[in-house]
Amino acid sequence: MNFNYLTGNFGIEIQAKELADVDQGTGLTLQNLWHEHELLVIRDMDLDTQAFVNFCSLFGELQKNYFFFQGHSEEYPQVARIIKEIGEKKNTGGIWHHDQGYYSKPVKGIALYGIDIPNRGGDTLFTSSTLAYESLSTAMQQVVKSLNVIHTTELMLKKQPISKLMESSGESSSGIERALKLMPLESAVHPAVCRNPVTGKPFLYLNRTTTSHFEGMTLDESSGLLDYLFKHIEKPEFNCRVQWRPGTLVLWNNHQVLHYAVNDYNQRRELHRVHFSAERPIKYL
Ligand SMILES: [Fe+2]
Repeated sequence: MNFNYLTGNFGIEIQAKELADVDQGTGLTLQNLWHEHELLVIRDMDLDTQAFVNFCSLFGELQKNYFFFQGHSEEYPQVARIIKEIGEKKNTGGIWHHDQGYYSKPVKGIALYGIDIPNRGGDTLFTSSTLAYESLSTAMQQVVKSLNVIHTTELMLKKQPISKLMESSGESSSGIERALKLMPLESAVHPAVCRNPVTGKPFLYLNRTTTSHFEGMTLDESSGLLDYLFKHIEKPEFNCRVQWRPGTLVLWNNHQVLHYAVNDYNQRRELHRVHFSAERPIKYL
């Protein structure tokens, strides 16, 4: 299958015409590409909701989304509509994060499909924590590998980054506020360094939105190293910036890849989203 690299070594772009028949063989090829490159951008697709669900089901079992309420229908409870209307000032996800790190089994895959896209702006940034881990010194890799991290919703509920999300007004933000109000305090312990079960590649599993501290350490003791690692993961050298078009499908590994929604547009935007494969991240030994 033909594809273009989106950066020096992270993320690829495929034209929909390359997928003429999405049969089992094509599905397997796409899964292998997804595992290897962590981020797939497929351009110029023409999918109705059922076709979007069918396509994404190639990668894993789709699950109902309890965070984004908007657009749930009885027919497609697994599809969430992520909408920012004209005039809405704030957006969702404008900070580096993984989704659901505070669950013991966070979803491994997320797919977004572009429906209504601004003329300019509204890109999504991704960063590879696999590349970030690879570039650490051997000594630092050994230190981090020995640690577990706590991911918690407490940071989302109390700390400034998520209060940014909650400041917003309008439909999408009210959905977020509702989700946060209903969200119980959740937390999970994960290895700081995990591995992809297929490729075996190690990656850092921590982010500034939900990772509070290292297991067995205080917040104070943890903050110096965590802050270093957050900044390290976010470096532009590990980033990939995706510009949306209608018919663009973006699919990423939510364990290995962090994302950041850039809020630099004032036109309506609508994306459809599914997520799949809730799995416990595996410790890298
Ligand atoms: Fe997110």
